[in-house]
Amino acid sequence: MKKHIVVIAGDGIGQEVTAVGKQVLNRIAEKFGHEFTYDEALIGHVAIEATGNPLPAETIAKSKASDAILFGAVGHPKYDNDPSAKVRPEQGLLGIRKALGLYANLRPIKLFDELLQASSIKPEFLKGADILFFRELTGDVYFGERGRKDEGSTAYDTMIYSRYEVERIAVKAFEAAMTRRKKVCSVDKANVLESSRLWREVVQEVAKRYPDVEVEHQFIDAAAMLLIKDPRRFDVVVTGNLFGDILTDEASQIAGSMGMLASASVGDSTGLYEPIHGSAHDITGKGVANPLASVLSAALMLDISFGLKEEAEAVVNAVDQVLKAGYRTRDIADSNTPADKVLGTQAMGEQLLACL
Ligand code: NAD
Ligand code: IPM
Ligand code: MN
Repeated sequence: MKKHIVVIAGDGIGQEVTAVGKQVLNRIAEKFGHEFTYDEALIGHVAIEATGNPLPAETIAKSKASDAILFGAVGHPKYDNDPSAKVRPEQGLLGIRKALGLYANLRPIKLFDELLQASSIKPEFLKGADILFFRELTGDVYFGERGRKDEGSTAYDTMIYSRYEVERIAVKAFEAAMTRRKKVCSVDKANVLESSRLWREVVQEVAKRYPDVEVEHQFIDAAAMLLIKDPRRFDVVVTGNLFGDILTDEASQIAGSMGMLASASVGDSTGLYEPIHGSAHDITGKGVANPLASVLSAALMLDISFGLKEEAEAVVNAVDQVLKAGYRTRDIADSNTPADKVLGTQAMGEQLLACL
């Protein structure tokens, strides 16, 4: 199979982890007789530095013309600490999601058994946890009208959803549930927010088309609590853009670390595969970032965009084997990990390649 992949590494550890993701894709191509060609494109702070624009037109054009995108991260402390900055790296990521119509962000929370000890949650509550989040990605307060008034002394962001936006993400969630444990939990704040009341109304309508799926509705505050109290009660979770952003960072602790969580952003156009973590300035350049979120994102690409199930499985198995062999990056190591098994980003990549 011939496929053309655009690598948008972006900022901070985005560069370090996508390098490993790409190496793994290359090894898969070699092993299974595929031809993957690559191009690179700019986004975020590096794009602002080079062009003044966090999302150059060329990046959108290259992305649209590709079969899939391997994305790293955006962000830089310079902007995080300057609320007045008008041009920001994150606009690049929001812009490409919107430009490609990537309205569904799939965030699987899968705990590798070997990492039971890496989580701060007690193992007896964790073992077997397996959740698939559907985070809506092109609506909500992220894209509603925002601004300042009263000569700048008041600021507002509008939480807004339209029926079709809720319906299409709900359908994706229910379809996925049909292939899993047939449970959907929809998360909103319908006791307060009008946009959540529309959300709940539409999810209830969609649910009628899937009588075999057990549906529950939870408010975001309770859902955040239940996720830690009893993660195994969840199968598929569907929620809006902001709630999904927050809940999945929380859920990363079920899998052990932010460095373990992959995602697929899909919709109308080329799929984009991105770790859920950011540019992690605190560890950038130290060579210690966990590349597994990028590697597992590459596995999602193989599966979802290319339909290469066996190849995707080979990647996940390699991750499993490396963990079984005791290798850890710093973020998933615990007090029992021997020092010689704690690897940097590139060494972890080499172990994976050896397994493949
Ligand atoms: P972050 O995800 O970058 O980091 C949070 C914590 O997790 C840090 O302690 C970091 O060291 C750790 N971490 C994250 N990924 C890791 C990995 N692969 N291996 C080991 N440890 C890892 O979130 P933040 O610190 O809130 O944000 C930093 C910057 O990243 C900000 O500018 C923010 O806007 C941006 N950001 C971008 C994305 C994205 O590009 N998708 C996502 C989140 C945040
Ligand atoms: C993510 C990030 C982004 C988001 C930011 C960087 C715009 O946190 O991908 O989860 O909020 O969607
Ligand atoms: Mn996030």
